[in-house]
Amino acid sequence: MSDTPCRTAYITTPIYYVNDIAHIGHAYTTVIADALAIYSRMVGHDTFFLTGTDEHGQKIEQAAQARGKSTQEYADEISGRFRALWDAFDITYDKFIRTTDEEHKAGVQVAFQKMVDKGDIYKDVYKGNYCISCEAFFTETQLVDGEFCPECGKPTQIVEEESYFFRLSDYQDKLLAWYRDNPECILPKSKRNEVIRFVESGLEDLSVTRTSFDWGVKLPEQMNDPKHVMYVWLDALMNYLTALGYGTDESLMKYWPARVHLIGKDILRFHAIYWPAFLMSLDMPLPKHIAAHGWWTRNAEKMSKSIGNVVNPKEVADAYGLENFRYFMLREVPFGGDGDFSQRALIDRINSDLGNDLGNLLNRLIGMSGKYFEGRIESDKVRTFYPEEMQQAEASLAKLEPLLFEMQIHRYLEELWRPLAIANKAIDQYQPWNLMKEGKTEEAMALNGLIANLLARVAIMLHPIMPKTTDTIAAALGFTIDQTSYEAIIKEGELLNPFTIEKTPPLFPRIEEPLLQEAPAAEPQPTQQEKTEKATKKEETTEGVALISIDQFFETELKIGTIVTAEEVPKSKKLLLLQVDLGEAAPRQIVAGIKEWYSPDDLLGTQACVVANLKPAKLMGLRSEGMLLAARDEGGLSLLRPESPKIPGTKVS
Ligand code: MSP
Repeated sequence: MSDTPCRTAYITTPIYYVNDIAHIGHAYTTVIADALAIYSRMVGHDTFFLTGTDEHGQKIEQAAQARGKSTQEYADEISGRFRALWDAFDITYDKFIRTTDEEHKAGVQVAFQKMVDKGDIYKDVYKGNYCISCEAFFTETQLVDGEFCPECGKPTQIVEEESYFFRLSDYQDKLLAWYRDNPECILPKSKRNEVIRFVESGLEDLSVTRTSFDWGVKLPEQMNDPKHVMYVWLDALMNYLTALGYGTDESLMKYWPARVHLIGKDILRFHAIYWPAFLMSLDMPLPKHIAAHGWWTRNAEKMSKSIGNVVNPKEVADAYGLENFRYFMLREVPFGGDGDFSQRALIDRINSDLGNDLGNLLNRLIGMSGKYFEGRIESDKVRTFYPEEMQQAEASLAKLEPLLFEMQIHRYLEELWRPLAIANKAIDQYQPWNLMKEGKTEEAMALNGLIANLLARVAIMLHPIMPKTTDTIAAALGFTIDQTSYEAIIKEGELLNPFTIEKTPPLFPRIEEPLLQEAPAAEPQPTQQEKTEKATKKEETTEGVALISIDQFFETELKIGTIVTAEEVPKSKKLLLLQVDLGEAAPRQIVAGIKEWYSPDDLLGTQACVVANLKPAKLMGLRSEGMLLAARDEGGLSLLRPESPKIPGTKVS
């Protein structure tokens, strides 16, 4: 390995925000981390694999409000969904951390106090261009026409807010020295250069507390400043330490420093600049690698909920097989580069790499050994008759190990396929059926032995990426994949003991046509699913859709409303401001994102179906007290309306 061998391996994913549904990007990071963790355990490292959810901050608070839930209740549900997804994906995490865990919050406070004591945190005033509607600061360059909010288009104001600052500027030189002295601290290496350029251009101190919202970790009690909560990124990054008990029960701290933090490239700055600076401030050792992968796109477009092109990992795994999908994600894209998801590419990988190269080889072996030797396979003459093949294959295998922790995972898999090519070629070249005809029984037996031993080697090294599939292959070949077989077969080059091969059904049935409709839909919108999951507690499901009871359905109060006024929301491309009569004392104000499809005149005096018991939310600073039901497909959006006029306030059931 390129690194000095270490006995512990602490591997982390980012902790995922609970304001969104899981998509292929989340699955990608998690699967890479899982493969590294399985590998580390297999080679005998004391491994700790961490994942979890990032639950504080204004975004989460707002997402909860929009769904009429308490923030904690909402965070519990979405966090639970992430965890359920990773469980369904057989992810072998050792801990699932939540930033709302009490131990985490306590640990972050300990760290904060240490930074204060060290003199790295000071109180000052944060001055900037503030958008009241979005409750966010923006830099001069982010503003539209030097004045307007880039998010909502409203005029911003210069606002001063009291804040604590972290002396990031003091760490500029130390960070540069770290990057320089540790060429592999940021992977791929090209990303390290980007970070170096950024840091060289100068670092400003970082505002690490907020007073504009509440949903966050409070400052340590002894600071006696209750109106501040910690900046979400400080809170979130600290999870890597608090998961090991930092500041509370430190029994797992032996795993620190992390072997690798896996992240996406969009959050590199936080991990490669803020995080090591915080750690330096805490006098903690720095992680070995921060590895940033690229983005998954769909037909070269960014995935987004509004375009409706988000790839739902569960749906893909259910249709194509979880491990096939794992293999595809890791093989298809060079780590660090962007990758486009297409079912065609996935099908090609399954049919070609997995079906033709790997699956068929096992089938051929089962067929040949069954036909000539009643399934018996012996290895003692393999190196006598096929020394070159064994040598070439072993040379390929020897190249593998550094590739994995250098994050050259696609190259690892590419290299791993060489022994398969050697095996397939050997069958074509030596033709066992001719060997048998010519009475060269020993050579034919040794050829089967060669194939079996190459397959065994590939199965072991493929195990981290396809654990169950490779267990099946190993079982057919009469052994179990574990540290002992890894050491004997891969490290010591031992050959398999004589065994009788087990017949195995084809591992990778051929796929002709895409199995999913072209745009696998994202998971159902949280509101619907949240309700479902909450009450059914994984009750009945049909074809993967959770069923809800009639009572749950009636939790949503649907009513017919008459739109009595409608106007455009200034500077908004999407929003209309409506007053809707629901038969109550006064009309409800509803802000609806339907401007692309309806003009105010189209709506005046018409009726629509309204969700009447939503918690009020603010959209562009305007209070919205309900939601119109609508259906949207490629042809556009249509409001759901009664077939004939109904009295305003009539219940819909
Ligand atoms: N909560 C922060 C991370 C804090 S870690 C201390 C966060 N969460 S996130 O849920 O928004 O994103 C998590 C990860 O998903 C990031 O690594 C991000 O790069 C990754 N991805 C989000 N969209 C992606 C794609 N379309 N493709 C690949 N990965 C992407 O950021």
